[in-house]
Amino acid sequence: MPPPNPQFNAIGKHEAVRAMFAEIAPTYDRLNHLLSVNIDKRWRRLVGQKLADVLSRPQAIALDLCCGTADLTLELSQQAPHAQVIGCDFCHPMLVLGRDKIPAQSSARLVEGDALRLPFADASFDAVTNAFGLRNLENVESGLREIHRVLKPAGRVAILEFSRPIIPLLREAFGFYFTRILPRIGALVSGSRQAYTYLPASVSQFPDQKRLAGMMRDAGFVDVTYRNLSAGIAALHLGTKS
Ligand SMILES: C[S@@+](CC[C@H](N)C(=O)[O-])C[C@H]1O[C@@H](n2cnc3c(N)ncnc32)[C@H](O)[C@@H]1O
Repeated sequence: MPPPNPQFNAIGKHEAVRAMFAEIAPTYDRLNHLLSVNIDKRWRRLVGQKLADVLSRPQAIALDLCCGTADLTLELSQQAPHAQVIGCDFCHPMLVLGRDKIPAQSSARLVEGDALRLPFADASFDAVTNAFGLRNLENVESGLREIHRVLKPAGRVAILEFSRPIIPLLREAFGFYFTRILPRIGALVSGSRQAYTYLPASVSQFPDQKRLAGMMRDAGFVDVTYRNLSAGIAALHLGTKS
């Protein structure tokens, strides 16, 4: 299978994205933590903290979309043990690895499904999260509308995604690391040069902080805000279904 086209909303990238994640699944977690020097864990923790109010609602139910190997699903479930957390992803090998990480006593569950055609009824969730998945969708606007559809009124969305560093010197240094060093380490550990070349290329094509916030508003979200993480290397966007 050829590598996915890193262009924003590239037509036909769906299957190539799924195949790419299936290929790198066995080394995905190790590389994530290695390449981000564990900062990714801090970013996911912040997602749970920002959703603490909705996750503490009676019988709260949250969806972690594009959950991959379930790191954020588990983080939400640990921070809000009384909430039901469901992880959803369309890549079976990623879900198998995630399932093995869920402790027996956890109420977290994983479901195989497509973010563009979610197998959930309208207004099902108090919160929907998506960490590093939105960029990979074949149609990001449709993905945002689908999140909006499955949220309950007053439900909240949290999107964690790579973004644009806001400090020029950092932008250059990080750009060098992201495009020159990361693909080599990624290729060495995962055996897939394509996946870790696709990563920086797709990030460079993805809307910046302000544009993504605008797209969330267009999808129907209100009170849309974002916070730069590590000076904009990533950003956490939050919104509410009115
Ligand atoms: C970079 S990984 C992120 C995984 C996890 N959220 C994390 O924080 O580590 C992106 C995930 O999005 C999933 N994904 C991409 N497109 C999808 C789609 N249309 N439907 C469901 N999952 C999708 C991939 O299978 C992959 O597991």
